[in-house]
Amino acid sequence: MIPRLLGTPKLVDGVPSIISAGHPFVVEGVDARRAKKAIAVLRAMDGTRTVDQIARSARTEAAFVHSLTSALDHVGLVRDERTPEARAALDVLFELEDLANSLLYESIYRNAFWHALLNETDTVPLQVFHGMAIENYHFLFRESYFDAPALNFPASTRARGLMNQFYGEEYGHDELILKGLSSLGITREDLADTIPLPQTMALCNALAFWARYEPVFFFSTLGILEGKDITIDSYIDACERRGLPAGFVAPIRAHANINMEGEHGSLTRALFEHLPPIDARGVLQMRARTRLFIQLYDGFYTGIWNYYSGSNSLLRRLSTLVDAS
Ligand SMILES: [Fe+2]
Ligand SMILES: [Fe+2]
Repeated sequence: MIPRLLGTPKLVDGVPSIISAGHPFVVEGVDARRAKKAIAVLRAMDGTRTVDQIARSARTEAAFVHSLTSALDHVGLVRDERTPEARAALDVLFELEDLANSLLYESIYRNAFWHALLNETDTVPLQVFHGMAIENYHFLFRESYFDAPALNFPASTRARGLMNQFYGEEYGHDELILKGLSSLGITREDLADTIPLPQTMALCNALAFWARYEPVFFFSTLGILEGKDITIDSYIDACERRGLPAGFVAPIRAHANINMEGEHGSLTRALFEHLPPIDARGVLQMRARTRLFIQLYDGFYTGIWNYYSGSNSLLRRLSTLVDAS
Protein backbone atom coordinates (compact mmCIF):
# COMPACT_ATOMS: atom_id res chain seq x y z
CA MET A 1 0.00 0.00 0.00
CA ILE A 2 1.10 3.58 -0.68
CA PRO A 3 -1.04 5.51 1.81
CA ARG A 4 -2.08 9.10 1.39
CA LEU A 5 -3.57 10.63 4.52
CA LEU A 6 -6.89 12.31 3.83
CA GLY A 7 -6.44 15.10 6.34
CA THR A 8 -3.86 17.11 8.27
CA PRO A 9 -2.03 15.54 11.23
CA LYS A 10 -1.90 17.63 14.37
CA LEU A 11 -1.11 17.15 18.04
CA VAL A 12 -4.17 18.27 20.03
CA ASP A 13 -3.45 18.45 23.76
CA GLY A 14 -0.61 16.03 23.23
CA VAL A 15 -2.86 13.51 21.42
CA PRO A 16 -2.23 12.70 17.74
CA SER A 17 -5.24 13.76 15.70
CA ILE A 18 -6.22 14.21 12.07
CA ILE A 19 -8.14 17.23 10.93
CA SER A 20 -10.29 16.13 8.00
CA ALA A 21 -12.99 18.29 6.40
CA GLY A 22 -12.78 20.61 9.42
CA HIS A 23 -13.33 17.82 11.95
CA PRO A 24 -10.68 16.49 14.35
CA PHE A 25 -10.29 12.71 14.52
CA VAL A 26 -8.34 11.39 17.46
CA VAL A 27 -5.91 8.58 16.72
CA GLU A 28 -6.62 6.17 19.52
CA GLY A 29 -4.36 3.56 21.02
CA VAL A 30 -1.12 5.54 20.68
CA ASP A 31 0.55 6.01 24.01
CA ALA A 32 1.82 9.48 24.93
CA ARG A 33 5.49 8.54 24.41
CA ARG A 34 4.84 7.78 20.76
CA ALA A 35 2.54 10.72 20.01
CA LYS A 36 5.22 12.72 18.17
CA LYS A 37 6.36 9.61 16.32
CA ALA A 38 2.77 9.03 15.19
CA ILE A 39 2.59 12.57 13.82
CA ALA A 40 5.84 12.00 11.88
CA VAL A 41 4.36 8.82 10.44
CA LEU A 42 1.11 10.57 9.48
CA ARG A 43 3.03 13.38 7.79
CA ALA A 44 4.99 10.85 5.77
CA MET A 45 1.76 9.39 4.42
CA ASP A 46 1.86 11.67 1.39
CA GLY A 47 0.95 9.11 -1.26
CA THR A 48 4.51 8.65 -2.50
CA ARG A 49 5.94 6.15 -0.01
CA THR A 50 5.32 2.55 0.90
CA VAL A 51 4.74 1.55 4.50
CA ASP A 52 8.38 0.47 4.85
CA GLN A 53 9.62 3.76 3.41
CA ILE A 54 7.41 5.68 5.83
CA ALA A 55 8.83 3.66 8.73
CA ARG A 56 12.36 4.51 7.64
CA SER A 57 11.67 8.21 7.17
CA ALA A 58 9.90 8.46 10.56
CA ARG A 59 12.58 6.29 12.22
CA THR A 60 10.13 3.79 13.59
CA GLU A 61 9.16 0.14 13.15
CA ALA A 62 7.22 -0.94 10.09
CA ALA A 63 4.75 -2.80 12.36
CA PHE A 64 3.75 0.49 13.97
CA VAL A 65 3.17 2.11 10.57
CA HIS A 66 1.24 -0.96 9.42
CA SER A 67 -1.13 -0.89 12.38
CA LEU A 68 -1.66 2.85 12.02
CA THR A 69 -2.28 2.58 8.27
CA SER A 70 -4.75 -0.28 8.53
CA ALA A 71 -6.64 1.46 11.36
CA LEU A 72 -6.93 4.63 9.24
CA ASP A 73 -7.77 2.61 6.14
CA HIS A 74 -10.56 0.98 8.10
CA VAL A 75 -12.23 4.32 8.74
CA GLY A 76 -11.47 5.74 5.29
CA LEU A 77 -8.85 8.28 6.30
CA VAL A 78 -6.20 7.00 3.89
CA ARG A 79 -6.27 6.33 0.18
CA ASP A 80 -4.06 3.79 -1.55
CA GLU A 81 -2.09 5.59 -4.27
CA ARG A 82 -0.59 2.48 -5.86
CA THR A 83 -0.57 2.69 -9.62
CA PRO A 84 -3.65 0.73 -10.58
CA GLU A 85 -2.76 -2.57 -12.19
CA ALA A 86 -6.01 -2.57 -14.12
CA ARG A 87 -6.31 -0.69 -17.41
CA ALA A 88 -9.30 0.90 -19.07
CA ALA A 89 -11.12 -1.73 -21.13
CA LEU A 90 -11.02 0.39 -24.29
CA ASP A 91 -7.25 0.79 -23.93
CA VAL A 92 -6.90 -3.00 -23.66
CA LEU A 93 -9.13 -3.42 -26.71
CA PHE A 94 -6.82 -1.25 -28.84
CA GLU A 95 -3.93 -3.54 -27.89
CA LEU A 96 -6.00 -6.62 -28.78
CA GLU A 97 -7.02 -5.07 -32.09
CA ASP A 98 -3.37 -4.52 -33.00
CA LEU A 99 -2.58 -8.13 -32.15
CA ALA A 100 -5.61 -9.45 -34.05
CA ASN A 101 -4.78 -7.34 -37.11
CA SER A 102 -1.23 -8.61 -37.33
CA LEU A 103 -2.46 -12.20 -36.86
CA LEU A 104 -5.12 -11.69 -39.55
CA TYR A 105 -2.49 -10.48 -42.00
CA GLU A 106 -0.20 -13.40 -41.17
CA SER A 107 -2.89 -16.05 -41.46
CA ILE A 108 -6.40 -15.48 -42.82
CA TYR A 109 -5.59 -12.83 -45.41
CA ARG A 110 -3.04 -15.12 -47.01
CA ASN A 111 -4.56 -18.57 -46.50
CA ALA A 112 -5.47 -20.83 -49.43
CA PHE A 113 -9.11 -19.67 -49.51
CA TRP A 114 -8.46 -15.94 -49.62
CA HIS A 115 -5.38 -16.26 -51.77
CA ALA A 116 -7.36 -18.09 -54.45
CA LEU A 117 -10.44 -15.92 -54.14
CA LEU A 118 -8.56 -12.66 -54.43
CA ASN A 119 -5.87 -13.61 -56.93
CA GLU A 120 -7.20 -16.54 -58.96
CA THR A 121 -10.91 -15.74 -58.98
CA ASP A 122 -11.52 -17.12 -62.48
CA THR A 123 -10.23 -20.58 -61.66
CA VAL A 124 -11.77 -20.97 -58.20
CA PRO A 125 -14.28 -23.86 -58.40
CA LEU A 126 -17.88 -22.63 -58.19
CA GLN A 127 -18.42 -25.10 -55.37
CA VAL A 128 -16.06 -23.03 -53.18
CA PHE A 129 -18.35 -19.99 -53.57
CA HIS A 130 -21.39 -22.12 -52.81
CA GLY A 131 -19.63 -23.88 -49.93
CA MET A 132 -18.73 -20.56 -48.35
CA ALA A 133 -22.43 -19.63 -48.36
CA ILE A 134 -23.36 -23.00 -46.86
CA GLU A 135 -20.85 -22.72 -44.02
CA ASN A 136 -21.86 -19.10 -43.47
CA TYR A 137 -25.46 -20.31 -43.23
CA HIS A 138 -24.46 -22.94 -40.65
CA PHE A 139 -22.59 -20.29 -38.70
CA LEU A 140 -25.43 -17.75 -38.74
CA PHE A 141 -28.01 -20.47 -38.03
CA ARG A 142 -26.12 -21.09 -34.77
CA GLU A 143 -25.48 -17.43 -33.96
CA SER A 144 -28.14 -17.32 -31.25
CA TYR A 145 -26.37 -20.25 -29.52
CA PHE A 146 -23.25 -18.18 -29.06
CA ASP A 147 -24.74 -14.70 -28.68
CA ALA A 148 -27.40 -15.66 -26.14
CA PRO A 149 -25.13 -16.58 -23.18
CA ALA A 150 -23.77 -13.00 -23.15
CA LEU A 151 -27.21 -11.36 -23.04
CA ASN A 152 -27.38 -11.23 -19.24
CA PHE A 153 -23.90 -9.69 -18.89
CA PRO A 154 -24.10 -8.31 -15.35
CA ALA A 155 -21.06 -5.99 -15.15
CA SER A 156 -22.48 -3.14 -17.24
CA THR A 157 -26.07 -2.14 -17.91
CA ARG A 158 -25.07 -0.15 -21.02
CA ALA A 159 -23.01 -3.01 -22.47
CA ARG A 160 -25.87 -5.42 -21.73
CA GLY A 161 -28.28 -3.11 -23.54
CA LEU A 162 -26.01 -2.91 -26.61
CA MET A 163 -25.60 -6.69 -26.68
CA ASN A 164 -29.37 -7.21 -26.49
CA GLN A 165 -29.94 -4.70 -29.27
CA PHE A 166 -27.35 -6.48 -31.41
CA TYR A 167 -28.99 -9.84 -30.69
CA GLY A 168 -32.29 -8.49 -32.01
CA GLU A 169 -30.65 -7.06 -35.11
CA GLU A 170 -28.84 -10.32 -35.89
CA TYR A 171 -31.90 -12.52 -35.54
CA GLY A 172 -32.83 -14.36 -38.73
CA HIS A 173 -29.79 -13.45 -40.82
CA ASP A 174 -29.38 -17.10 -41.77
CA GLU A 175 -32.62 -16.63 -43.74
CA LEU A 176 -30.87 -14.20 -46.09
CA ILE A 177 -28.17 -16.74 -46.90
CA LEU A 178 -30.87 -19.39 -47.31
CA LYS A 179 -32.48 -17.13 -49.90
CA GLY A 180 -29.21 -17.00 -51.84
CA LEU A 181 -28.78 -20.77 -51.59
CA SER A 182 -32.36 -21.37 -52.74
CA SER A 183 -31.29 -19.93 -56.11
CA LEU A 184 -29.15 -23.06 -56.41
CA GLY A 185 -32.16 -25.25 -55.64
CA ILE A 186 -31.05 -25.88 -52.05
CA THR A 187 -34.00 -25.88 -49.63
CA ARG A 188 -34.36 -25.31 -45.90
CA GLU A 189 -35.04 -29.05 -45.55
CA ASP A 190 -31.83 -29.86 -47.44
CA LEU A 191 -29.83 -27.70 -45.05
CA ALA A 192 -31.56 -29.20 -42.01
CA ASP A 193 -30.24 -32.55 -43.28
CA THR A 194 -26.64 -31.32 -43.48
CA ILE A 195 -23.88 -30.82 -40.96
CA PRO A 196 -21.30 -28.03 -40.92
CA LEU A 197 -17.61 -28.63 -41.45
CA PRO A 198 -15.81 -29.47 -38.20
CA GLN A 199 -13.96 -26.13 -38.42
CA THR A 200 -17.25 -24.21 -38.64
CA MET A 201 -18.60 -26.10 -35.64
CA ALA A 202 -15.35 -25.51 -33.73
CA LEU A 203 -15.70 -21.76 -34.24
CA CYS A 204 -19.35 -21.79 -33.13
CA ASN A 205 -18.58 -23.89 -30.05
CA ALA A 206 -15.59 -21.78 -29.01
CA LEU A 207 -17.68 -18.62 -29.28
CA ALA A 208 -20.49 -20.21 -27.26
CA PHE A 209 -17.98 -21.19 -24.56
CA TRP A 210 -16.46 -17.71 -24.43
CA ALA A 211 -19.87 -16.01 -24.39
CA ARG A 212 -20.77 -18.15 -21.38
CA TYR A 213 -17.51 -18.11 -19.42
CA GLU A 214 -15.45 -15.18 -20.79
CA PRO A 215 -18.03 -12.68 -22.03
CA VAL A 216 -15.58 -9.76 -22.13
CA PHE A 217 -13.34 -11.71 -24.48
CA PHE A 218 -16.39 -12.81 -26.47
CA PHE A 219 -17.30 -9.13 -26.96
CA SER A 220 -13.82 -8.56 -28.40
CA THR A 221 -14.46 -11.15 -31.14
CA LEU A 222 -17.63 -9.48 -32.41
CA GLY A 223 -15.78 -6.58 -34.01
CA ILE A 224 -13.69 -9.04 -36.00
CA LEU A 225 -16.58 -11.29 -36.96
CA GLU A 226 -18.84 -8.40 -37.86
CA GLY A 227 -16.01 -6.33 -39.31
CA LYS A 228 -15.67 -9.30 -41.59
CA ASP A 229 -17.79 -7.11 -43.81
CA ILE A 230 -14.41 -6.33 -45.29
CA THR A 231 -13.87 -10.00 -46.10
CA ILE A 232 -17.51 -10.62 -46.93
CA ASP A 233 -17.32 -7.76 -49.38
CA SER A 234 -14.21 -9.31 -50.92
CA TYR A 235 -16.19 -12.55 -51.22
CA ILE A 236 -19.14 -10.77 -52.83
CA ASP A 237 -16.82 -8.93 -55.22
CA ALA A 238 -15.20 -12.25 -56.13
CA CYS A 239 -18.68 -13.78 -56.69
CA GLU A 240 -19.46 -10.99 -59.13
CA ARG A 241 -16.13 -11.23 -60.93
CA ARG A 242 -16.75 -14.97 -61.30
CA GLY A 243 -20.19 -14.18 -62.78
CA LEU A 244 -22.40 -15.79 -60.16
CA PRO A 245 -26.08 -14.94 -60.67
CA ALA A 246 -27.70 -12.04 -58.82
CA GLY A 247 -30.22 -14.46 -57.27
CA PHE A 248 -27.33 -15.97 -55.32
CA VAL A 249 -25.31 -12.85 -54.62
CA ALA A 250 -27.97 -10.22 -53.84
CA PRO A 251 -29.29 -11.72 -50.56
CA ILE A 252 -25.72 -12.24 -49.30
CA ARG A 253 -24.93 -8.64 -50.16
CA ALA A 254 -28.09 -7.59 -48.32
CA HIS A 255 -26.69 -9.25 -45.18
CA ALA A 256 -23.36 -7.46 -45.54
CA ASN A 257 -25.23 -4.17 -45.92
CA ILE A 258 -27.19 -4.77 -42.70
CA ASN A 259 -23.89 -5.23 -40.85
CA MET A 260 -22.56 -2.07 -42.36
CA GLU A 261 -25.66 0.05 -41.71
CA GLY A 262 -25.98 -1.30 -38.16
CA GLU A 263 -22.28 -0.47 -37.64
CA HIS A 264 -21.80 -3.97 -36.27
CA GLY A 265 -18.10 -3.74 -37.03
CA SER A 266 -17.74 -1.08 -34.33
CA LEU A 267 -19.95 -2.87 -31.79
CA THR A 268 -16.95 -4.14 -29.84
CA ARG A 269 -15.60 -0.63 -29.31
CA ALA A 270 -19.04 0.57 -28.22
CA LEU A 271 -19.26 -2.31 -25.73
CA PHE A 272 -15.76 -1.82 -24.36
CA GLU A 273 -16.49 1.83 -23.59
CA HIS A 274 -18.79 0.57 -20.86
CA LEU A 275 -16.78 -2.34 -19.50
CA PRO A 276 -14.93 -2.31 -16.17
CA PRO A 277 -11.11 -2.05 -16.16
CA ILE A 278 -9.13 -5.21 -16.94
CA ASP A 279 -6.20 -6.33 -14.79
CA ALA A 280 -2.77 -7.34 -16.12
CA ARG A 281 -3.47 -11.07 -15.92
CA GLY A 282 -6.78 -10.59 -17.71
CA VAL A 283 -4.98 -8.79 -20.55
CA LEU A 284 -2.52 -11.68 -20.96
CA GLN A 285 -5.37 -14.18 -21.03
CA MET A 286 -7.22 -12.14 -23.63
CA ARG A 287 -4.12 -11.94 -25.82
CA ALA A 288 -3.74 -15.72 -25.65
CA ARG A 289 -7.42 -16.24 -26.49
CA THR A 290 -7.14 -13.82 -29.40
CA ARG A 291 -4.47 -16.09 -30.90
CA LEU A 292 -6.72 -19.12 -30.51
CA PHE A 293 -9.70 -17.26 -31.94
CA ILE A 294 -7.79 -16.16 -35.05
CA GLN A 295 -6.52 -19.73 -35.50
CA LEU A 296 -10.10 -21.00 -35.37
CA TYR A 297 -11.28 -18.28 -37.72
CA ASP A 298 -8.45 -19.08 -40.11
CA GLY A 299 -9.46 -22.74 -39.84
CA PHE A 300 -13.01 -21.81 -40.83
CA TYR A 301 -11.88 -20.42 -44.20
CA THR A 302 -9.14 -22.98 -44.75
CA GLY A 303 -11.65 -25.73 -43.99
CA ILE A 304 -13.99 -24.34 -46.65
CA TRP A 305 -11.18 -24.35 -49.21
CA ASN A 306 -9.96 -27.84 -48.34
CA TYR A 307 -13.40 -29.40 -48.50
CA TYR A 308 -15.20 -27.53 -51.25
CA SER A 309 -12.32 -27.09 -53.71
CA GLY A 310 -12.09 -30.88 -54.05
CA SER A 311 -14.57 -33.31 -55.50
CA ASN A 312 -16.61 -33.67 -52.32
CA SER A 313 -20.38 -33.40 -52.48
CA LEU A 314 -21.72 -29.89 -51.88
CA LEU A 315 -24.10 -30.96 -49.11
CA ARG A 316 -22.70 -33.00 -46.24
CA ARG A 317 -25.92 -34.90 -45.73
CA LEU A 318 -26.68 -36.27 -42.32
CA SER A 319 -28.71 -39.11 -43.81
CA THR A 320 -25.72 -40.22 -45.92
CA LEU A 321 -23.42 -40.11 -42.90
CA VAL A 322 -25.92 -42.07 -40.80
CA ASP A 323 -26.23 -44.70 -43.55
CA ALA A 324 -22.45 -44.96 -43.81
CA SER A 325 -21.89 -45.44 -40.09
FE1 LIG B 1 -25.64 -10.88 -39.30
FE1 LIG C 1 -24.21 -8.29 -38.04
